[in-house]
Amino acid sequence: MATRKSNGVRSLVGALMLQAVGATAAEQAPTPPPPIPIVSGTAAQASLVHVGGNDTFAITPDGRRAGTLFYEALKGKKKNAKESALQAIELWDKIIPQENYGGEYTALQWFATYFVADPTQRDEMLKDPFVNEFFHLFADNKYAVLKEYINRKYHVEDIGDEETYTGQTRKAWLEDTILFNNPRREEWERTSQVMELIDLKPGDSIADIGSGPGYYTFRFAQKVGPTGKVYAIDTVEDHLKYVGKTAKNTGIGNIDLIHTDGKTLGLADAKVDAVFMCSLYHNIYAMSAEPERVELVESIKSALKDDGTFYLVDNGLVPPGTLPYHGPYIAKELIIQQLTAFGFKLVQAENKIPQRYILIFKKQAAKKDPA
Ligand SMILES: C[S@@+](CC[C@H](N)C(=O)[O-])C[C@H]1O[C@@H](n2cnc3c(N)ncnc32)[C@H](O)[C@@H]1O
Repeated sequence: MATRKSNGVRSLVGALMLQAVGATAAEQAPTPPPPIPIVSGTAAQASLVHVGGNDTFAITPDGRRAGTLFYEALKGKKKNAKESALQAIELWDKIIPQENYGGEYTALQWFATYFVADPTQRDEMLKDPFVNEFFHLFADNKYAVLKEYINRKYHVEDIGDEETYTGQTRKAWLEDTILFNNPRREEWERTSQVMELIDLKPGDSIADIGSGPGYYTFRFAQKVGPTGKVYAIDTVEDHLKYVGKTAKNTGIGNIDLIHTDGKTLGLADAKVDAVFMCSLYHNIYAMSAEPERVELVESIKSALKDDGTFYLVDNGLVPPGTLPYHGPYIAKELIIQQLTAFGFKLVQAENKIPQRYILIFKKQAAKKDPA
């Protein structure tokens, strides 16, 4: 998510870190004592939480060169547009393993591959209905939105509103959409293996909090079938509009859209079998004031049925130098300790790729008052 990180936020995160790992009992507020995460097994010198954006990694000269080459191909400026796109693909091949693992380069390279492909290959690339929707958002009208995105990100030509709130909001929305609905997400995140861990059967209900442009929402909708229900919940209305339009175009009728203020799930009295949260808890942990965090986690608890499951996916720490991964992250131990303090029980923890974990919690039944 494109969260900007100000120095103020850095100090806030620093302060939280000290509280999280360094506070002694004597320094804690007397009542109620905050839960102290016990963190072990993490690289000692690394920060345990990092709230960055997709733009945390710097745009490198080669990244800009690849983006510009593809932009020129899309604009048809160069005599040989195909040659330009092929050069961009080659450059991305070189820089993806070093600069931006799992980031937008793979999505841009996917578009460039489509651009140079023959009709049969193109049909194959668009056979997934959700990929097809994604493609048309960016590629309709001679790749208008894709050109806009590359421009906003790599500043090939001036748009004019880059520094305005509207320009920044638009860029963040496009950035999230290209990252999270990236047709090559399976490759870097092993999303089908994540889906195998989500225990849903036809007729079940699940709340996808921070659904973004719906990558997992659509997969849940297929899994729970027409008698089930998926709540796509987000603070950004444009994401929900995209989810709604894609659901309509692909004939999916079991998704409810919920535009939340971010404080609660916004489910009113509905109870769900599962809550799913992917790439959001690092924000909730580090950026929310305590009362807001309490309200949101309590809202997750109260929305879950008594035997309900909370699935949480986030980015973990990777030893420096092992992967060119630059996104936000949070040590899973911090989340486990915090959610345990909120009354959840960790029942499973998995990693399908080194820098991403899936934590599965069960709601603990509320203790009965002794009669
Ligand atoms: C990093 S994106 C992840 C999108 C999606 N979960 C995925 O993995 O494809 C996080 C999303 O959470 C949304 N968001 C941020 N704070 C939120 C909150 N308090 N409640 C609900 N959604 C929130 C953002 O607008 C964004 O769409």
